[in-house]
Amino acid sequence: MKNKYLIANWKMNLLSKDITDFSEYFKNFHSKINLGICCNFLYLEQVKKLFPKSWNIYAQNYSEFLDGAYTGETSCLMLKDKKISHALIGHSERRNLFLENNSKVNTKILLGLKYDFKLIFCIGETLEQRQNNETYQVLENQIKLGLLSVKNNEISNIIIAYEPVWAINTGISATDEEIFLAVDFIKKTIKNIYPETKEAIPVLYGGSVNDKNIDVLKKIAVVDGFLVGSSSLKKEAFLNLIKKYEK
Ligand code: PGA
Repeated sequence: MKNKYLIANWKMNLLSKDITDFSEYFKNFHSKINLGICCNFLYLEQVKKLFPKSWNIYAQNYSEFLDGAYTGETSCLMLKDKKISHALIGHSERRNLFLENNSKVNTKILLGLKYDFKLIFCIGETLEQRQNNETYQVLENQIKLGLLSVKNNEISNIIIAYEPVWAINTGISATDEEIFLAVDFIKKTIKNIYPETKEAIPVLYGGSVNDKNIDVLKKIAVVDGFLVGSSSLKKEAFLNLIKKYEK
């Protein structure tokens, strides 16, 4: 189970008190799964301090610039300075609501790798793209453009999260067949670009994963783990999810 992942994406939720509460609940909890939390910049240090050392704590984003006159932005250098070296890049909410295109995502990935970050790189098609039979083309483009100039020896610092946009926060997960086909395609595409890499790049699924569908989803052998939004916001639900995944 050590090569399986369950990563919470808290998005813009939870305040200090909630986080302390959450962490208390997991104080003496050990898991065979690689656990992680993507949390807001302001709480990264708190989360890192309170959760077990084995959990990876991810920033949800960082700027495509290193420093300078960019009011309101946070750079990966600042994160490094605060001992944060994990980040989520290219989440569909960043792409769709904050207009991050593949090129911006690529700049961020290259910058993160340069500063030794471990990254989760999100990709996924919209409903319209799926209905127009463009899913695989979209995924291939996102991979090729997002990973442009990423070298063979850097790719092992990346985990991919396949998150169909239409399944995020909708309560409607993709079916096991849709997930299998997309993740299998992603793995083959990566293998084509990086034929020399020995270790397979982990690919997670995200989109309405919960403690009801985890029993079915965890059986999809090509999937290396899950990125979980809504169901990671309540400590009881998240613990239940971990336990069911472990079983
Ligand atoms: P969801 O979000 O689990 O609420 O669908 C997943 C994500 O956006 O990473």
